[in-house]
Amino acid sequence: MAKKVFIKTFGCQMNQYDSNRILDIVKKIGFIETKSLDESNCFILNTCHIRDKAKEKVYHEIGRVKERFIQKDKPLIIVAGCVAQAENTEMLKREPYIDFVIGPQSYHKLNNTIKNFEKNKVREEITDFESITKFEYLSKIKNKINKVSSYITIQEGCDKFCHFCVVPYTRGPEFSRPLYQIISEAEESVKKGSKEIILLGQNVNAYCSNENGKQYKLSDLIMSLEKINELKRIRYITSHPRDMSDDLIECYANSKKLMPFIHLPIQSGSNKILKLMNRKHKVEDYIVTYEKLKKINMNIEFSSDFLIGYPGENEEDFEATLYLIKKLKFLNSYSFIFSPRPGTVASNYNLVDEQVSKERLKIIQAALFNNQKLKNKSFENRNIDVLIENEMKDKKNLFGRNEYMTSVILKGNKSLIGKVLPVKIISSNQNSLFGEVDNNKIEAA
Ligand code: SAM
Ligand code: SF4
Ligand code: F3S
Repeated sequence: MAKKVFIKTFGCQMNQYDSNRILDIVKKIGFIETKSLDESNCFILNTCHIRDKAKEKVYHEIGRVKERFIQKDKPLIIVAGCVAQAENTEMLKREPYIDFVIGPQSYHKLNNTIKNFEKNKVREEITDFESITKFEYLSKIKNKINKVSSYITIQEGCDKFCHFCVVPYTRGPEFSRPLYQIISEAEESVKKGSKEIILLGQNVNAYCSNENGKQYKLSDLIMSLEKINELKRIRYITSHPRDMSDDLIECYANSKKLMPFIHLPIQSGSNKILKLMNRKHKVEDYIVTYEKLKKINMNIEFSSDFLIGYPGENEEDFEATLYLIKKLKFLNSYSFIFSPRPGTVASNYNLVDEQVSKERLKIIQAALFNNQKLKNKSFENRNIDVLIENEMKDKKNLFGRNEYMTSVILKGNKSLIGKVLPVKIISSNQNSLFGEVDNNKIEAA
């Protein structure tokens, strides 16, 4: 009987990509995926360490599995991802139910570790930083995901060391995959039906690959992907303001497939706080980039990440952030209260009062939601291009996204999946647009 694996994923898009690749890897040694924890022989928890009680969340999840299997044979328990990397042997000591932990740069060792555990029952931690070997190994295993919109990791790790962030410790130093490897994965994906590729990296716009005496940047990669005929949309996430170079900005003039929506985290609207965060950019630098992009295409919109209640943030700093949100009209943004992470510089700083931070977050989110609501309203009674991604669970509606990643819900037939169609927007709310396809335009699409 085939062995069944259940994978649970927390965290960012890169973890989602990793979980898909983990599935491709374990299929090689006979596992098939199950969506039911109860019937699994192997439970893989792909973890995130970015905020809150990440560690406790992992032990809680393992506790739940333990309860479910109290009357049955224990499944193989593997903790992967960023908590595994950060906590490594600590986890094995604290929770004997965990069989082994494996960090994000060691997934190429997953199958051997499973086989070794099955044979020798030795509990171990595998947390070396070996990105090159990992991606070489992965490039030989086909990416089996066949979604209309697909992720491809092109860059991992970070050398920037913002004082609040664990990523440089959990994902290791910056590493860019070779261009040819990415293009070949993208071509495969498009052959299987992908119409949109979302390039991923913790600092995706720092992408830089040196091959055969030539240096390739994100702009080169975008312009190469542009040539894949059936590919309709290109996006990338997450960028750092310092790496928004002129050649990348130029892509917004040269590429027809690059979407006019940029996720560019600024974190705070106060230069004092940006300095305390070790962000290595000022608000003014950000605005210069913003204006350069708007000059190329007025329709480009921005989203961002905001870290609220960072140690040292006073009322004036907070007001500066609020002012910036209103001025630049950010869409679809993420905002979080600062959460001290073990091992980072800011973990030793004095915290802002929790109630004050919560109050500030509420105000920031209201301003961001307002921007989003107004933008969504502006689409009403207009025809906009939507990439139809899938059928909704109710089987009556289709789901798609506009150029700005906003969800669009529309009536229509499954045969429209994978097409970019003009959709007339009838109504909207803060999160979604509701519309219908102009039947006359379907033929032409
Ligand atoms: N590389 C991206 C950048 O520099 O903007 C960010 C990547 S990070 C994985 C995603 C977001 O998590 C950050 O932009 C930040 O807002 C948030 N984050 C990171 N550390 C955090 C912390 N200690 N507490 C709360 N949010 C945090
Ligand atoms: Fe974290 Fe981004 Fe800063 Fe790197 S640049 S340390 S990933 S917030
Ligand atoms: Fe979390 Fe690791 Fe991504 S800490 S946000 S899963 S890089």
